[in-house]
Amino acid sequence: MTNSANQLQKPLTTKINDAGNIEIGGCDTVELAEKYNTPLYVIDEKTLRTICADYKKAFEKYPKTNIMYASKALCTSAIAAVLDEEGFGFDTVSGGEIYTVHNANVDMSKVLFNGNNKSFEELNLALDLGVGRISVDNFYELALLNTIAQSKNKIVDILLRITPGIECHTHQYIQTGHLDSKFGFDLTQIDDAIELILNEYTNLKLHGLHAHIGSQIFETSIYADEVDILCKELSRIDDKFGLKLDEINIGGGLGVKYTQGDNPPSTYEIGEIIINSLHKAIEKYNIDPPSLFLEPGRSIISTAGITLYTIGSSKQVPHGKKYVSIDGGMADNPRPSLYQAKYYAQIANKKETDELELVTIGGRFCESGDILIENAQLPKLDEGDILCVYNTGAYNYSMASNYNRVEKPAIVLVNNGQSEVIVKRETLDDLIRCDVIPDRLKKYE
Ligand code: LLP
Repeated sequence: MTNSANQLQKPLTTKINDAGNIEIGGCDTVELAEKYNTPLYVIDEKTLRTICADYKKAFEKYPKTNIMYASKALCTSAIAAVLDEEGFGFDTVSGGEIYTVHNANVDMSKVLFNGNNKSFEELNLALDLGVGRISVDNFYELALLNTIAQSKNKIVDILLRITPGIECHTHQYIQTGHLDSKFGFDLTQIDDAIELILNEYTNLKLHGLHAHIGSQIFETSIYADEVDILCKELSRIDDKFGLKLDEINIGGGLGVKYTQGDNPPSTYEIGEIIINSLHKAIEKYNIDPPSLFLEPGRSIISTAGITLYTIGSSKQVPHGKKYVSIDGGMADNPRPSLYQAKYYAQIANKKETDELELVTIGGRFCESGDILIENAQLPKLDEGDILCVYNTGAYNYSMASNYNRVEKPAIVLVNNGQSEVIVKRETLDDLIRCDVIPDRLKKYE
């Protein structure tokens, strides 16, 4: 089976250059750190576009495929512009993501709005900006959306988000498709929802079903089960209501290689499984071939991203561990503390040597749990060394916070030896931009 770039542990342009430093996208990472300061997120455009090309190729045998980048993985205007150029649509989950994608001049009919508690304001914005599909999650939202649609005299194109009852073996916080889930209609509630859409909520037009089974998935067979369930429902709904739905959206979830031990399937493998199971289900349930929507997030952007940090203090606990601290941590990458996620790192400015030491990389934030990597084998570290952490493109910047009132890092896009800032580093003034001191507390004007 052909390999794909989402299976790499590092961006595909990674190499050691003549200066002995790690180079990514033709840029020396030590120079990037000097020029833009650290912590610094770096996205390699070539890896990103190669993964997009892999996805498109993997699904070309099913021409009715639409790939919608799950922008929650990393949503910035420039990233949206790149994915738009690649011909992808967008899965969005908030007014903020919709607004960002719109800011990149994306054709909003290629945008889907998803989420279990969309607000009145967010649904309004989605309708005003012409978002193509709303994936309705629950009965409350059906009523709310219909009211908003009525008030605007619009017919809104929707999918129903369903819980297919599939358990996948990933971290429990990132499983979503099992039965006891906060997301979507239970299979037993679909008919009631359809009755309402057909008889009461006449400003809603139902096109199909949407599901998502989890994230960082390595099992391929689970997608075949999901496709089977969705197609079976399409056929059952046609039999019962005479309603021909012609779209299935199977969500995202394909995993990436954070550590040496991770072996994610390739996009080609996943493509083959999904397309084969779709053909089988079309025949088995005697339905017209539906349009297939996918929503990959992590597997599109994770591998393209790295984070650079500068090494600062270190501490040898007597008879214990050696801690080495970096200038970032849980506020720019909360995944280790949230999900016990593991990352692989190298020193950007030191060739690999045989003399490795075992260190724990601690973050700079004020809590003991802020450990980025436990027991990393690295060359002896000195202050000022640059640490390069791989596979940080997804769910790092997008989940970053200002914990400890620390500015969020910049994001730089690298390609062919050029680097461009796509998100500016926050400043101290940015941190106080929304602060208000009531007059009675003001010390002076
Ligand atoms: N579609 C839906 C409806 C989703 O809920 C998600 C992710 C995706 C697509 C994209 O899944 P992906 O291809 O990225 O696996 N913050 C967690 C991941 C949460 C994923 C939530 N939903 C993490 O850092 O691991």
